[in-house]
Amino acid sequence: MPPLRRATLTTRILTSFLRNTTPHRLHSTGTAPSSVSADELSHFSALASSWWDPMGPSRVLHLMNPLRHEFIASCLAEGPPTYDHQQQQAEQAQAHLHYLDVGCGGGIFAESLARTIPSTENKTVTPTRAASITALDPSSTLIQIAREHARTDPTVEAHLRTGRFSYQNRTLEDLIESTATGEKKQFDIVTLFEVLEHIDPSTSSPLAFLTNCLRLVKPGGWLVGSTIARSFPSFLVNQVIAEAPWPIGVVPRGTHEWSKFVNPDEVKVWVQEGLMRGRDGASEKAGSEALQGSQWKCEGVMYFPGLGWKIVKGSEDWGNYFWAVRKGV
Ligand SMILES: C[S@@+](CC[C@H](N)C(=O)[O-])C[C@H]1O[C@@H](n2cnc3c(N)ncnc32)[C@H](O)[C@@H]1O
Repeated sequence: MPPLRRATLTTRILTSFLRNTTPHRLHSTGTAPSSVSADELSHFSALASSWWDPMGPSRVLHLMNPLRHEFIASCLAEGPPTYDHQQQQAEQAQAHLHYLDVGCGGGIFAESLARTIPSTENKTVTPTRAASITALDPSSTLIQIAREHARTDPTVEAHLRTGRFSYQNRTLEDLIESTATGEKKQFDIVTLFEVLEHIDPSTSSPLAFLTNCLRLVKPGGWLVGSTIARSFPSFLVNQVIAEAPWPIGVVPRGTHEWSKFVNPDEVKVWVQEGLMRGRDGASEKAGSEALQGSQWKCEGVMYFPGLGWKIVKGSEDWGNYFWAVRKGV
């Protein structure tokens, strides 16, 4: 074979290999670049079997879960995801909100939310006013653990059967892509708990990720998240102490990379930029018009032994914090 043709063939084989192995396409069935890092995925998948152990490596997530419900309730109290006053009054009386949980892991939040969806037998409306929840994660191992755990509770299992609750093993980028090609889906509340600090900076960015999340939020709806600020106290607490060997450490080594932590003022700028970029249809506003009526909320949280996680106003720049943005109507 002439050297040039041999070189072309080698290049083609190499290109094809790289295209099929590059993290860009990791766990993504579509053509959209994936934000999932291979290292993060294997790290979290390895924790799957102990995900539901309240004293295991996901202990911090279990302990933080009640505060997530409280924070969402405070967002709903400030601005219900609804479009006009009459509709609002009618909806207050019903469970009508559709939730999406991005990066749901083994389902700690998703399952607790699913438990608040009224059942066919018990139609009592709960404070979450949840009518449905879709939860997605790029780890198939975690989704399997999540489904298995959900089936142990008859109420939750019934929601899985009726489709009010569903787990999907897919990336956010896949969902966005299918939305663009016809699967028209927007949600009243999109949640993003402890995920932003794990996205792959070599293939994506928090701005791109948040913009995608915001595309999935209905006008008037909320994107709610929690993450960790990149501060000296957070380095000490989350990297040095939390990842120290047993009995001091509470999370496995390698759970966090301090450089990927994000500060509240960064998230605020990114979500504003995301709202301005997030045009996904004629009905959506674009540019600075998209910021009209939007709301930003941010609260620091701290862990107190014996008391659990509590909101500590003004502590958002130190370490863990909750944030939320409401899309203008
Ligand atoms: C710390 S766990 C949080 C799980 C869950 N949100 C909770 O708080 O209970 C981080 C989760 O994010 C998922 N994840 C990592 N990178 C992701 C990405 N780029 N897109 C969506 N999910 C991702 C992981 O698979 C893992 O389940």
